[in-house]
Amino acid sequence: MNLFDVYPINDVTIVKAKGSYVWDDKGEQYLDLYGGHAVISIGHTHPHWVKRIEEQLEKIAFYSNSIKIPLQVELAAKLGKVSGKEDYQLFLCNSGAEANENALKQASFHTGRKKIIAFSKSFHGRTSLAVAVTDNKNYSAPVNETDNVIFLPFNDEDALQACFEKNGKEISSVIIEGIQGVGGINVADDSFLRKTRSLCDEYGAVYIADSVQCGYGRTGKFFSHDFAGVNADIYTMAKGMGNGFPVAGIIVAPHIKPKHFQLGTTFGGNHLACAAALAVLEIIEEEKLMGNAVMVGKYLKDELSSIPGLQNIRGRGLMIGFDVPEELKDLKKNLLWNQKIFTGEAKPNVIRLLPSLALKKRDAEQFIDSIKEEISILSEQQ
Ligand SMILES: Cc1ncc(COP(=O)(O)O)c(C=O)c1O
Repeated sequence: MNLFDVYPINDVTIVKAKGSYVWDDKGEQYLDLYGGHAVISIGHTHPHWVKRIEEQLEKIAFYSNSIKIPLQVELAAKLGKVSGKEDYQLFLCNSGAEANENALKQASFHTGRKKIIAFSKSFHGRTSLAVAVTDNKNYSAPVNETDNVIFLPFNDEDALQACFEKNGKEISSVIIEGIQGVGGINVADDSFLRKTRSLCDEYGAVYIADSVQCGYGRTGKFFSHDFAGVNADIYTMAKGMGNGFPVAGIIVAPHIKPKHFQLGTTFGGNHLACAAALAVLEIIEEEKLMGNAVMVGKYLKDELSSIPGLQNIRGRGLMIGFDVPEELKDLKKNLLWNQKIFTGEAKPNVIRLLPSLALKKRDAEQFIDSIKEEISILSEQQ
C-alpha cells in the first residue's frame, strides 16, 4: 500500500530530537525554529514530559469517559491556574480542528442560532465546520459548503459593526485567531478584539478565541487574546498543549452551561494525554517559559528588523513572521539545506518562526548569523 499523497515533503528523515534540535538518519543536526508546526512548546523529548508519560503508561493509558478520571480534574485545575481562567470549564478532545468544531457547536447549542462570523485569511482546521470558517476554498469540498458563515475583513471594526447591525439576532458566534498563523502571522488589533467582545455582549453572541497556534504561552501571555484585556467566552487549544502528544481542548466561560451528551469523544482526555498535558504546564511554569518567549522573541524581532531585505517583521513572543522579497525567495530552502535550520512558511512569501518556548538566546543568535550569511550569498548572486 502507498501513502495517500496529500503533503509536499522535504527530503529528510528525522529520527531523534532534543530541546530545540533534531537529527536526521545520517546524524546531521538541525536547529528547529518550526517546532513541528508550533507544536513543540517545552522542547523536544523534555525529560520531565518523557518521565510523566512513561510512568502513566505503566499504570493505565486509556479508559473511556464513562468513569472518573482524576487526571482530567488535575489538568483542569492546573490549566486554570497557569492560564488565569480559573472559573472556566474544560472539555478535552484530540486536535485543533476538533476543538474548533466543538466550540462552534457549543456556541450554537447555547444561543440556538446558526450564523458564524469568520475573517479573511483565517485557518481553523479541516473538519466540516472548522473548514467552513476557514478562508481557503482549496481545503473545502462541495459537501462543506454552507450559508451559515459570513466572512469579514480581518481587523475591520466598521465591517464587524455593520454586520452585527444587519444580522445581530442570527449570529451564534465570532471565531478569531489572536494571531493568524497559516494566514501569515497577522496580529489581531487589541481594539478589534475589544470590539468583538462588546458586540458579542450587545447581541448575545459567543466570542470564540482560536488559540490553537497563538496560545499556550507562545506570545508571552497564555492566550494572545489576553493582550486585549478582555475575555473570550470559549478558547480553543491544541498544538503546544501536549508538546507532540495529541491532546486538545476548549475552555468554556461559566455562564455557558453543559448538557449531557451534547459534546463527546472516545479518546479525548485519556489518561496518557492528560499526563502529557500536565507535564507541559508544569514545565511552562517551572522553567518560566512565557518569560523566555518574550525575551528571546524580542531579541529575534529586534535583530531581524535590522537586516536589510527582510520586511514587515511582526508577531509576538515566539510567533514571528516576516516578508521575504522575490530576490530572496530561496532563503527558507537555503536555511534548511545550507544552514540546517528548520523554519515555517506562509504562502506566498512569509517565513514563520514557531520554535519551542524554551529556545535559548544562543540558538537565536546562531539563527541571526545564519540568515545574514544566506542573505548575503543570495544578494551576491543577483
Ligand atoms: C489557528 C489554527 N486553528 C486550528 C488548526 C487545526 O489544528 P489541527 O491540525 O490540530 O486540527 C490549526 C492548525 O494549523 C491552526 O493553526
